[in-house]
Order: sequence, then structure tokens, then C-alpha cells
Amino acid sequence: MKNALLLGGSGQIGQSLLPRLLNDGWAVMAVSRRAAQMPQTPGVAWLAGSLQQMPRLPHPAALIVSCGPLDAFAAWYAQGDQAASRVIAFGSTSLKVKRDSSDAAERQTVARLAQAESRLTQACASQGAGLTLLRPTLVYGAGMDQSLTRIAALAGRYRHFALPRTACGLRQPVHVEDLADAVIACLHHPASIGRSYDLPGGETLDYTEMVRRVLATLTPVPRLHRLPGSLFSILLWLARASGKVSGFNNAMLARMQQDLVFDSQPARMDFGYAPRTFQPIAKGLVEADDRVLG
Ligand SMILES: NC(=O)c1ccc[n+]([C@@H]2O[C@H](COP(=O)([O-])OP(=O)(O)OC[C@H]3O[C@@H](n4cnc5c(N)ncnc54)[C@H](OP(=O)(O)O)[C@@H]3O)[C@@H](O)[C@H]2O)c1
Repeated sequence: MKNALLLGGSGQIGQSLLPRLLNDGWAVMAVSRRAAQMPQTPGVAWLAGSLQQMPRLPHPAALIVSCGPLDAFAAWYAQGDQAASRVIAFGSTSLKVKRDSSDAAERQTVARLAQAESRLTQACASQGAGLTLLRPTLVYGAGMDQSLTRIAALAGRYRHFALPRTACGLRQPVHVEDLADAVIACLHHPASIGRSYDLPGGETLDYTEMVRRVLATLTPVPRLHRLPGSLFSILLWLARASGKVSGFNNAMLARMQQDLVFDSQPARMDFGYAPRTFQPIAKGLVEADDRVLG
């Protein structure tokens, strides 16, 4: 049996990937800081640990998949403790989107992601591992994301949701299952070795339409208010000051009017990537855990 090491198997992409790896004939060693809470599944060995404190693996892994933080994964992998012939790791299109952000923390994240990609690329080259880097856009579908699930949670709670009228930048939300399928497809298409791919969703739509479709999944459907920018800014300031909204910075507000569009063609050509259009359903936007609203 082929052994795979999965990092981030408890996360939104990882949860979809686990059963696909089993179906593809892999025995999976999955590392989690919450291993004891993970459901027991035949073919999956949950190992307690983290990228900072990796457990001893019961078997050498032929494949390593990273669905967790790329910087920590690259730092661990570069130590050379675990060789594998194939490595597939998720990064993010934030690398391109937030490069010129007005927010210093976001620019630092970009720097960390860029450094992680190059560190991982070098380490895989020196260890003779075939690397594929996958960069998703806005991820949804498991009820664990901080974007659309958060919007659904806020709108469901208050029955109203406000956007500035300028929220018309283009988006390509991508479903977790399409990303999990992409990993399996890469394993079967050697053309993906040594390459990195942007993985957008299968539909490009503007921010307001994206939110409208999220709200339409809720019962009753919350009212969407499109406000002049100045009025929205005042409301946002009040919501932040009263603690009703957190983690939403001015750079995010500015990005609502920017087009964040990526080309799926290379992934389509190399491994048949075929992401679905954006038709969210309530189940994929209901909070799967209590991290979303905090
Ligand atoms: N969410 C998005 O919209 C988005 C967009 C673009 C790219 N991405 C990228 O896609 C990848 C997966 O994202 P996601 O949203 O699916 O992740 P997620 O749901 O937030 O889950 C994170 C996963 O990483 C694991 N993890 C976190 N810190 C760890 C550590 N120190 N050691 C070991 N494991 C650790 C967690 O495992 P435990 O808690 O069980 O230990 C969990 O399984 C990430 O690289 C992310 O940057 C996400």
C-alpha cells in the first residue's frame, strides 16, 4: 500500500481530500494538533503533533500533501527529516492580490508566502521530490472559511447585510471539493510536476452578486443594503467599535472594488481542472465550528 502524509487534514480542504486519497489507494498518516478529536476512519492514522513538533511517522511517505500553513510546512520540509518522491502544497493567490496592500500585516503575509514557496521549491529540488504548488482563490464549501461563511453568519444573525455600492470587484470563489479533486488529478498527471497553478473557481462574478447568492441560501433571506461609500464606512466604524465586526480592515474594504481574477487555463490543460460555477448551498456555508464568528 502507498503511504501518504497529510498536513492540514482537519481543515476545510483537507477534510475533502482525505476520502479522495483513500479512494485513490493511499494509506494516510494525518498530523493534527487535535488528533484525539478526529473521527476514526479505516486507512487513516491520526498522529498528534504539529509542524513545529512532528511526531515519528510509522511509515515512510511516498507522498506529502500540505493543506495547512505553507510557511510552517516549508520550514519543516526544508529540514529534510522526511523525504518523499511527490509533494503537493497549497499556497494562496494572496501572494499576488495583497502584494501592494495598504496593510502592513498583509504585506508581511505576502513576504512569508513568497519565501515559503521559494524555500519549498529549493528543498524539493535538492531532495529530488516532484513539487506542485496550488494557489486557490477565495475558498468556500466546508462552512469553515473566514469569508463567505462569515458573511452568511453575520447576515443570518442580523437579518440585514450592507455593502458599499462600489463593491463590484470581480471574484472567483472556489469550492473545497474542486481543490481536493485537483490534488488527485495532479497525482495522475505528471505534467503538473515542477509547476505552480492558480486555482480559481469556475465562475467570475462581482462581489455584490457573490454576496447576494450567499444570502439567498439563508432562511429567511436577509435584506441586502447597498450604501454610499461614506455611509458604509461610518456603519463599519460603528460595527467595529461596538465589537460586532472584527478582522475587517481598510485594505479589505478597498479590495471590494478590485478585480481579483486568475487564469485557470494552465491547470485545465495540465490536469483537467474543471471547477464548478458558484451555486452555494446553505450546508456549505453553515458554520462547521465556532471559529467563524468567534
Ligand atoms: N481559506 C481560504 O480562503 C484560502 C484561500 C487561498 C488559499 N488558502 C490556503 O489553503 C491552505 C488550506 O487552507 P484552509 O482554509 O483549508 O485551512 P484551514 O481550514 O484553516 O485549516 C488549517 C489546517 O492547518 C492545520 N494547521 C494549522 N497550523 C498547524 C501547525 N502549526 N502544524 C500542523 N498543522 C497545522 C490545521 O490542523 P489542526 O488544527 O488539526 O492541527 C488545519 O487542518 C492554506 O495553505 C491556506 O493558506 C486558503
